[in-house]
Amino acid sequence: MTQTKKQVVLSGIQPSGRLTLGNYLGALRNWVRLQEQYDCCYALVDLHTITARQDPKVLRERCYEFLALYIACGLDPQKNVLFVQSHVAAHAQLAWVLNCYTMVGELNRMTQFKDKSQKNADNINAGLYDYPVLMAADILLYDTAKVPVGDDQKQHLELARDVAIRFNNIYGAPDKPVFRVPEPMIPPVGARIMGLQEPTAKMSKSDDAESNAVYLLDGPDAIERKFKRAVTDSGAEVRYAPEEKPGVANLMSILSAITGESFEAMQARFAGQGYGKFKAAVAEAVIECLKPVQARYKDIRGDEAGLKRVLQSGAERAAAKAEPMLARVHDVLGFIPK
Ligand code: TYM
Repeated sequence: MTQTKKQVVLSGIQPSGRLTLGNYLGALRNWVRLQEQYDCCYALVDLHTITARQDPKVLRERCYEFLALYIACGLDPQKNVLFVQSHVAAHAQLAWVLNCYTMVGELNRMTQFKDKSQKNADNINAGLYDYPVLMAADILLYDTAKVPVGDDQKQHLELARDVAIRFNNIYGAPDKPVFRVPEPMIPPVGARIMGLQEPTAKMSKSDDAESNAVYLLDGPDAIERKFKRAVTDSGAEVRYAPEEKPGVANLMSILSAITGESFEAMQARFAGQGYGKFKAAVAEAVIECLKPVQARYKDIRGDEAGLKRVLQSGAERAAAKAEPMLARVHDVLGFIPK
């Protein structure tokens, strides 16, 4: 019997800062849901991470920590290819090729580049500018059909699609494109979790203010405290109005993403009760949601030899998938085969 080949899903996270509830609800949780149905590759994108200065010791530790968290969240290392981007040389190699098919004007429009250059005015390096091209290479190397990400990566994905289409138009035949044009997979709720102290900006891994983000390894007391102090507004009404009440809308999104409760039901349930009970309910849901992840994390992180084996196997499996695509790209470009 012939088995139909599963479509490829690929995504990645930068091993910088600490993983947040935003990363979980926007990305990681959805990765876990896809592992049965798709052929999934999930990367720790260390090459992307050095676009900002990193302490080498901390970076290495973070990679193990993040990998352990991937697994603790429910990603099975047998079913998924879990790997470090720098272990598969084809990523950097394809990025170079794609650089020659990406226009400077396209990169100038990237909002994340503009934001990051503003934040790191003393280190606006070429890698930061080129970051979306490396991301396109990550995706296109694997014949990826779907890319599960949060809302902030949408523009980068559109660029990856544009570059793929441009390359296909030059080198592919209509019935035999070189690259598959990938589709984003962005969750309907939880795709943009905002900061608890600054609900008009997204919750971020590298936030300076501890209380702005909930981290996956935060204990119940810290989580309770952070939600208690979360910025709302001077009113008392639990109502979904992102423009007028961004803090409340963000908490409602978090609760809805975790429990599936609709905004209308929430509005009715907390009517006339003020923010206190509502915030406590959100904290409780987050604590319960992270409990099983935290319970598994310690043992997984403690087995560093096991994590190294996962990465070794991940690197081999990822390279085996990526190398034929790179060879095909080199071939259509007219490079002499090795
Ligand atoms: P990164 O490391 O910033 O974030 C990892 C994932 O988490 C999502 N995310 C959020 N979702 C909801 N609310 C938030 N506040 C929030 N913050 C982050 C991101 O959308 C992302 O899905 N460029 C990527 C990494 C990358 C990549 C790739 C992704 C490199 N190559 C190829 C997909 C495919 C990044 O910096 O993600």
